[in-house]
Amino acid sequence: MTQDELKQAVARAAIAHVEGDIIGVGTGSTANFFIDELAKIKHQIKGTVASSEATAARLAAHGIAVLDLNDVAEIAVYIDGADEITEQGAMIKGGGAALTREKIVASVSKKFVCIADGSKLVDVMGKFPLPVEVLPMARNAVARQLAALGGQPKLRLKAGTDEAFVTDNGGNILDVAGLAITDPKGLEAQINQIVGVIAVGLFAARGADVCLLGTADGVRTLT
Ligand code: 5RP
Repeated sequence: MTQDELKQAVARAAIAHVEGDIIGVGTGSTANFFIDELAKIKHQIKGTVASSEATAARLAAHGIAVLDLNDVAEIAVYIDGADEITEQGAMIKGGGAALTREKIVASVSKKFVCIADGSKLVDVMGKFPLPVEVLPMARNAVARQLAALGGQPKLRLKAGTDEAFVTDNGGNILDVAGLAITDPKGLEAQINQIVGVIAVGLFAARGADVCLLGTADGVRTLT
C-alpha cells in the first residue's frame, strides 16, 4: 500500500470515532482525507471547528459548516494527523504550520484521535525537526534559546523563496533539528516558557487519547 492509501485507510477508520455534533478537524494530508470521509456523513453533525484556514476552506467546499471556536463551549472529538507519535500518545505536530490552532482546538476537545500512517510511530521523537511558532520580532532571540537547549533551529521559508513563511496567525516557524526528545512533557513546558514563543509543536501534556495507525496489515489502534 502507498503512504496515501494508508492515510486514506485511517481517515475512513476515524469516522467510527466521530461523536457529538461538533467535530474538531486538524490540518494536513491525512486530515484532508478525513474531511473527504466526513463529507459523506455531514448530515449527522451540526458543524466543525477548523484548525487552519486551509482546513476551513476544504470543509466549506464540501458544504460542511465551519464554526468559530468562540461560539463553541465543548467539542467531543478532535481528529488530526501527526509528524511523529509515540506509543504513549505524545506527538510532534506542525509540519503543516498549523500547530497553534491545532493545540487550541485540541485543548477544548474531550478526545483527541490521531490518524497517521505507520511510519510516524517512533520510540524517541526528534528525528522530525520540532516546529515552534514564534512572534516575528522574537525569532532570533527564541532561536538562541532553542540552540541553548541543544537544538539547531532553522527559520522555515516560503516555498521557493528566501522569505520567512508566515502562519495563519502572522507568526513565523522555527524548525528545530537535533533534539532527542526523551522527556516530551518537560521539553514542552521548557519551550513554552521562552518569551516570544506562540506555541511549540510538542503535544505531550495533552497528547492523543487514541491513535489509528495505518499499516500493511490494516489499521492498528493505540490507546
Ligand atoms: C499540520 C500537522 C499535520 O497533522 C502533520 O504535519 C501531519 O501531516 P500529514 O497528515 O500531511 O502527514 O501537524 O500542522
